[in-house]
Amino acid sequence: MKRIRIAPSILAADFAALGEAVREAEAAGADLIHVDVMDGRFVPNLTIGPPVVAALRRVTRLPLDVHLMIVEPERYLRAFAEAGATILTVHPEATIHLHRTLTQIRSLGVQAGVALNPSTSEESLRYVLEELDLVLVMSVNPGFGGQSFIPAVLPKIGRVRAMLDGAGLQEVSVAVDGGITPQTAPRVIRAGADLLVAGSAIFRAEVGVAEAIRRLRAG
Ligand code: DX5
Ligand code: ZN
Repeated sequence: MKRIRIAPSILAADFAALGEAVREAEAAGADLIHVDVMDGRFVPNLTIGPPVVAALRRVTRLPLDVHLMIVEPERYLRAFAEAGATILTVHPEATIHLHRTLTQIRSLGVQAGVALNPSTSEESLRYVLEELDLVLVMSVNPGFGGQSFIPAVLPKIGRVRAMLDGAGLQEVSVAVDGGITPQTAPRVIRAGADLLVAGSAIFRAEVGVAEAIRRLRAG
């Protein structure tokens, strides 16, 4: 089994003190920093853009896992790559030519991911498997932190893992994002996830960031 990695989502951190939050997460053993970019169109919420990614790049050595919840993400790939993104993840519904978008991401020297909304089938991945470094299975409808985990996505996690393994792509990561807590983490890990994205359960945990990460990783 793959080592379980944890990506704290800064959406749940204090935006007035993002640098400190990221430093704290790094010291606490986080593996990546998950950055949620929202445009008020693909999702109802608005968050941040390349300047904030560039600022975060200066305060951490951790990979920056940038989740683009924006329409026509192809228009911004270069800006996020230049800002220092390590992974750029796009939603298939947001980009007309998914294969081209993924190859563009890789041609910028960045790892490429596809995010699947709760109602989106893993079949969207079938013809782009070779272009992927990461699949992000959404376990909430994207747009906000602090929502409840949707258990109906559990079987999809296993199907994505099987699809990748079947194509000889064992090194591609299966991440889960939304409603990840110490209660839901063991279920997604058992289903085949190896990367857990969590916002509220890390930055708003009463036990503190380090213990929260440890508990999620323990599964
Ligand atoms: C939701 C975002 C998530 C969000 C998760 O649209 O993609 O990354 O920050 O937040 P929690 O862990 O609080 O559900
Ligand atoms: Zn996210």
